[in-house]
Amino acid sequence: MGFFASVNGVVTPAAEATVSVLDNGFTFGDSVYETLRTYRGRPFHLERHLARLRASASRLGFAIPDADDVFAQRLEELLTRAGNDESYVRIIVSRGEGEVSYRFDRVKGPTVVLLAKPYQPFPASYYTEGVPVIISSVRRNHPSALDPAIKCCNLLNNILAVQEAQAQGAMEPLLLNAAGELAEGAGSNLFIVQGGEAVTPPLAAGILAGVTRAVVLEIGPSIGLPARQQPLVPGDLFAAEEAFITSTLKELIPISTVDGRNIGSGKPGPVTRRLLEAFREYAPNHCA
Ligand code: PDD
Repeated sequence: MGFFASVNGVVTPAAEATVSVLDNGFTFGDSVYETLRTYRGRPFHLERHLARLRASASRLGFAIPDADDVFAQRLEELLTRAGNDESYVRIIVSRGEGEVSYRFDRVKGPTVVLLAKPYQPFPASYYTEGVPVIISSVRRNHPSALDPAIKCCNLLNNILAVQEAQAQGAMEPLLLNAAGELAEGAGSNLFIVQGGEAVTPPLAAGILAGVTRAVVLEIGPSIGLPARQQPLVPGDLFAAEEAFITSTLKELIPISTVDGRNIGSGKPGPVTRRLLEAFREYAPNHCA
């Protein structure tokens, strides 16, 4: 079991891996990332994560020349070396090594880093009891300033909200967009259950197009549970029958309370439980 890194294809223990202090990722936060996890040792939906990674880099104006199969090979090598039962995988790509200047034409890159460490599941009680969340006072970045659809390593917006949640003993902050609609969690997408249907804010709310969110929207209808996108406001959440957050690491985690108020019965509801079960059947069968 171990924590290993691949920096431009060279694998070492993570603690020994280095990137230049002149890397734009360090000097400017000029980098993009993906978080993946493995099921039965294989990365879940690698192709969807790589597509989103490329889209993020493209929005920042740099390309990632390595083909998907190069990523797959490097990841394979890294996972073999790490030897974990299940791994948490982070892919980080920065524009490259620069001159601490906005002369992007002089940046040599990109820098491609893969990290793999043992996957640590969340406590089982999160799934059986649900978790408390808050509605953060921090608004999600406005898409016309820094589009949350870009999964970039500048996570200060998220960090401010997470610190507020942690100070209140909440597992996750939910962020509103500038219009006061529900956007997403600091590291997750949000669903509520309304009239038995799973409803999530649309991408136009200014959110990350989560891989887990997309899978829930796909598999819901296949098990007879309608799932759709619709703008939501805090009142919809407080009135919801159930609510849950989704992410690669969280899968689907039921929300018990928001700002200390019960959602539904305050316990995981049947729609959330069935979707989680369906997701856990789906995931191991959709790995590279
Ligand atoms: N976070 N929204 C935000 C802001 C996120 O950071 C994430 C994921 C999601 C869910 O996306 P997905 O289902 O593709 O994991 C939504 C990852 C896990 C992270 O930051 O490590």
